[in-house]
Amino acid sequence: MLNVGVMVSGGGTNLQAVIDAIESGAITNAKIRAVISNNPGAYALERAKKHGIEAVCVSPKSFKSREEFHGALLEKVDSYELDLIVLAGFLVTIPGEMIRKYQNQIINIHPSLIPSFCGVGYYGLKVHEAALRRGVKLTGATVHFVDEGVDSGPIILQKAVEVLPGDTPEVLQRRVMEEAEWKILPKAIDMIANGELEPEFRKENIE
Ligand code: GAR
Repeated sequence: MLNVGVMVSGGGTNLQAVIDAIESGAITNAKIRAVISNNPGAYALERAKKHGIEAVCVSPKSFKSREEFHGALLEKVDSYELDLIVLAGFLVTIPGEMIRKYQNQIINIHPSLIPSFCGVGYYGLKVHEAALRRGVKLTGATVHFVDEGVDSGPIILQKAVEVLPGDTPEVLQRRVMEEAEWKILPKAIDMIANGELEPEFRKENIE
C-alpha cells in the first residue's frame, strides 16, 4: 500500500479528484496519509477533513526565515513516512534538501503541455493567460517527477485539451482541469502504486 502525502495551497480540486479516485477504486494500492498546506485558508484542508484525512498547515509566515520554514516542512513530511509526495497545486518552492531526499518520489501536476508555458512564473491562471496570449490551439496538462529545476523533471503523463474561440483564462483553466488534470493525476498515482511505470521511470533504474 503506497503511503501518499498531498501538498496543496488552494482550492484542492486535484486533491478531490485523487480522493474520489481512491474511494471509487480507480486508484488501488494507495492511501492518503496526510494533506499538507502552506496556506491556513486553503479549502483543500477542508476537503481532506471531510474525508477523514489528516490535514495540517505549515505556513512560512510562522517562521523567522525561509530556512526555518524549510526545516519544519521537511520534518513534517518525514513524520508521515511517505512513499509518494503529490504536489497538487502546491505553489511554494520545494526545498532542495527535500527533493534530494525524496528523489523520484515527488510528482507534480502542471496545467500546460510541458515544455510550453512552464518554469519560473508560470503557475495557476498565469499559465492559461500566457497560452491565450500566444494563441495556441491546443494546451493541456502534465504530470512529472520533481527534480531540482522548475517543471523540468521526467514527464510521466500528458493530456491535450483544445483551446476554443472566446476562451477566458478562467474558462480554459476549468476545461484543462476537467479534461486533463483530474484524469491524469489520479492515473499517474495508480500507475506508481501498481508498479506500472515504464522501465525508465522505475526507481531501481534511476538510483
Ligand atoms: C491546478 O491547475 C494545478 O495544475 C496548478 O494549480 C492549480 C491548483 O488547483 N499548479 C500549478 O500551476 C503548479 N505550477 P487546485 O487547488 O484546485 O487543485
